[in-house]
Order: sequence, then structure tokens, then C-alpha cells
Amino acid sequence: MSQPPSVPFLDLGTEFAELAPQWHAALAEIGAKGAFILGPNVQAFEQEAAAYLGADHATGVANGTDALVLALRALDIGPGDEVITTPFTFFASAEAISIVGATPVFADIDPDSFNLDPASVAARITPRTRGLMPVHIFGHPCDMDALGTLACDHELVVVEDLAQAFGAEWGGRKVGSFGHAGGTSFYPTKVLGGYGDGGMLFCREAEVDARVRHLRNHGATAPFVHDVIGCNSRLDEVQAALLRLKLARLEEAVAGRRAVATAYGERLAGVEGVVTPPDPAGGRHAYNLYTLRIPGGRRDAVRKHLGERGVPTSQCYPEGLHLQAVYADLGYRAGDLPVVEQACTETLSLPVFPGMSEAQIERVCSVLGEALIQA
Ligand SMILES: Cc1ncc(COP(=O)(O)O)c(C=O)c1O
Repeated sequence: MSQPPSVPFLDLGTEFAELAPQWHAALAEIGAKGAFILGPNVQAFEQEAAAYLGADHATGVANGTDALVLALRALDIGPGDEVITTPFTFFASAEAISIVGATPVFADIDPDSFNLDPASVAARITPRTRGLMPVHIFGHPCDMDALGTLACDHELVVVEDLAQAFGAEWGGRKVGSFGHAGGTSFYPTKVLGGYGDGGMLFCREAEVDARVRHLRNHGATAPFVHDVIGCNSRLDEVQAALLRLKLARLEEAVAGRRAVATAYGERLAGVEGVVTPPDPAGGRHAYNLYTLRIPGGRRDAVRKHLGERGVPTSQCYPEGLHLQAVYADLGYRAGDLPVVEQACTETLSLPVFPGMSEAQIERVCSVLGEALIQA
């Protein structure tokens, strides 16, 4: 008997086809103008993204990692400073802290949201703590009330990592508008994804924004005049033009992802052996990833079964950053951050994308059900 068609983990093709006429027109205009880097589309996109997010300033950069690095640099975080963050994230969050010469200090997470646990953050604040990097993981907003209070009480600089959470909200406000700065990624798989690399940095103060603009373009004050070592981290017109088109449809895309999450939640409620992600009471999850738990040591077998039956999944994240070889000199041991370490053995991300059909959702859930019986 033939197997039903595979379910893609993410479908970018349908949206590409829908956008193609506008996208091709935008490309033709860019080609005709001959302005490819930091042109009118970048400027317009910066204003539109800032307005969408409720941020005072937005600056387009080359990728999300650079957005975080430049945010930290512009806020004077560097050698000797400690920045508290989560080890349950993509490497770039901690890497950005290390790139500027500061030390990442890893705190444990909340078992439901997978985001930083404010109590664990509080326990790690020392006289050397200068910054806090909340990462809105999988699109789930962090508790910005609790983390904001901690940051205020200890005068910490807050740099939000919203690479996976463009469009997520906490208390009715978009994430990325809470901290001194926020960095996002437009990597193609993100909620707002480009057709290549790209990133954006949001901040409150005009002075910080001016520093970022200076740093992203080789620290140039005028053509061929440089007064600091900056970098080349510019957003290009081709990405900006596309991202403008996608930003105009973003609310629809977030609603589409949320509808899939709701459907999964309804179908998987009460299924033994699965813990579905709770929708946050105080905010709006953007579901860049739909990540659930399979406790009891069965996650890997379940994942294997799903893969064999044409349902691709992702394992975010297999190991906490505190235990990665690159951070061995920080001295963390297995057992130091138990909630993170347990999540690494139990989490599994299912396919989720706007426009995912009922049949695809049903297929994922029925194969997951089978997998749970067999695992
Ligand atoms: C949480 C998080 N932070 C930072 C980044 C880095 O973004 P980029 O790949 O655009 O440099 C990513 C990208 O995957 C991410 O998921």
C-alpha cells in the first residue's frame, strides 16, 4: 500500500508563488535604479518595521547574529562584563555575547515556555552583570514584566533576541520593543524570512541607533573616512524589497501559524505521552516552531518513526549551550541547569507554516499517535 504524501517541515514555495508578480516587479525596479545596498527599500523597510514593532529606531543589518553583536557593541557591553542569557537557544545568542568579549552566564529556563526563568536569572546576578539577553524562543514571548523588573532593579542593559519571534507579543506589545535594543533575523525559515540572509536591530535611543549605523558601515563618518573599527553588515535592497512585501502580510502569516498550533493543541489534548506547548496567558506566541515534549525517554524513537513515515521534525535543541565544548572553560557541568537539560532530551518540533492544510495537520497527528504506540 502506498504511503500518503510527505508533509513538508516548512512550505516556502506557496508563498513564493503568491508573491512572485510583486517580487519580480520590485526586482526590475531595483535593477533599473542600480541601487543594491542600503537604498530606498532598506530605508522604507526600516521605517515600516519600526512602526510595526512599536520601536523608536530600526536599522537593517546583514543577519541576526550581527544585529545582536552590534546592539551589544553600541550599548558598550564588552570585556569584563557578564550577560545573562539562556543556553536553550541557537548558538548565535551566546556567540554574540562572546564576540564582543563579554562572558555569557547561563540561567535555567521555565519548563512550560522554554524561556528564561526569572528566578534563575536573579540567582546569577553578580556585580559584574551588565546585561540580560532574553531570547523569545520558538516565538514564545518571554515574561518581560518579571525580566524587566529585574533589569530595572539591577540597572541591566536588556538586549532582546527576537530572531524566532517577530510578531510575538507580551502584554499587547510586540517583543523587541521592551529592551534597550533587540535583534532579529530574516533567515528564510523565520516568521518574517527573506530569500537570503538579513537582520534588523531595534532600539530606543537615537544615539544608540546612530552608533549602530556607523558600525554597520565600516565605522565610516564619510566616504573613505573611518574613526572606529566597524564591520560590513548592511542589508541589501533585494532582501528589503521582499521583506516589505512580507511584512505587509505578516499578521496573516502569524494568524496562520497560530491556527495550526490551535489545531495541534486540540488534536493532541489528552494524548498520553505528549505535552503540548501552552499558549502564553500574557502574550501572543508567533509559533516560528511548534515544539512539544515527549517525556519518558521515547523522543528519539518517536522522531525516527515520524521521519520514516514522511513527517520531518526538528530537535531544538539537542544540547544546552552551557555544555558545548566551546564553553568548556566557563566550567558548567551536566546537572547545573536541570530544566534545560531535561528539555534537550524531550523536545520535538513539528511542521508548522501558514496555510498548512487540515489534511497535513491530521497526518502529522495520526503518525505521531502511531509513533507513540510503537515507541
Ligand atoms: C534565537 C536565534 N538567535 C539568533 C539567530 C541568528 O540569526 P542569523 O542566522 O540571521 O545570524 C538565530 C538564527 O537562527 C536564532 O534562532
